[in-house]
Amino acid sequence: MAFPTVRHRRLRSSAAMRELVKETILGVNDLISPIFVTEGEGVKEEIASMPGVYHWSLDTLETELAETVALGIKAVLIFGVPDSKDAIGTSAFEENGIMQRAIRKIKALYPNLVVVADTCLCQYTDHGHCGVVHTAECGVTIGNDDSLELLAKTAVSQAQAGADIIAPSNMMDGFVTAIRGALDAAGFENTPIMSYSVKYSSAYYGPFREAAHSTPQFGDRKTYQMDPANAREALREAESDVAEGADFLMVKPGLAYLDIVRMLCDRYELPIAIYNVSAEYSMVKAAAMQGWIDEKAIVLETLTGMKRAGADLIITYHAKDAARWLRSE
Ligand code: PBG
Ligand code: ZN
Repeated sequence: MAFPTVRHRRLRSSAAMRELVKETILGVNDLISPIFVTEGEGVKEEIASMPGVYHWSLDTLETELAETVALGIKAVLIFGVPDSKDAIGTSAFEENGIMQRAIRKIKALYPNLVVVADTCLCQYTDHGHCGVVHTAECGVTIGNDDSLELLAKTAVSQAQAGADIIAPSNMMDGFVTAIRGALDAAGFENTPIMSYSVKYSSAYYGPFREAAHSTPQFGDRKTYQMDPANAREALREAESDVAEGADFLMVKPGLAYLDIVRMLCDRYELPIAIYNVSAEYSMVKAAAMQGWIDEKAIVLETLTGMKRAGADLIITYHAKDAARWLRSE
């Protein structure tokens, strides 16, 4: 008889059977929702290239938080969009900076919501780089060790405001050591660090830079963010973060880097976050608005794929929609 004895379709025969053998479960607890907070009053301004994502001022922020919490989302990632910038990003570490006030407000309203603070300087520097700029005859460089001091100050000010997790996205060498040391010295030895360990220099950040007003005014970020062509280098980046005491590892962007997530998942025991970044979101939204794709199916498939690749947590602008869809499944 030529009939196959192995029939894979036996386990796909009904919805219930498929549920029984499902290997990857996406849940609302896996999601972290990013929020952009800005100065001003009464602001709820949609980011043009990211339909459904807004700039919120401190007084309107509550609407977004209430919706997020009602959907069962456990964590938000906060980005500050300040209105004053200078060469060293002073507004990043001021006690009354936009980020610090936002964190205090969120924790006062929702003490149980996990507040993850993005720790970087690029939104706060007038040149838009993630560190200090040095200008010499041979050209412009981004300082490493002097940037670390500013990042450490920023992290401490965020922890003092009540941040539950510090998430440094700057890609300077040694930032975990610097931030860990500063947090510990300030009495925040129990505040975890979610390191943007493996952050590629990516065109997928385009819409975010528009949203955060953080486009570099000259040059690019290629001397600190990674080359998309490199995978083994990602292991070196992760290795040093693990050694320096990071509590979470992150891979960013998501879709084009699932192989990196899998590598880290196979090699390290720390929780892994993946960042489903702005242009990944914008592309789905644009196609959905044209009626070219089934948005719900595409988003849930994408997020499931990220989990299957080994991510424990997914930072995504689709978080609220996904939470809604998961609830109604
Ligand atoms: C800044 C930062 C970026 C993102 C998060 N933090 C952009 C960049 O490095 O230029 C990207 C997020 C996104 O695209 O959604 N350090
Ligand atoms: Zn930055």
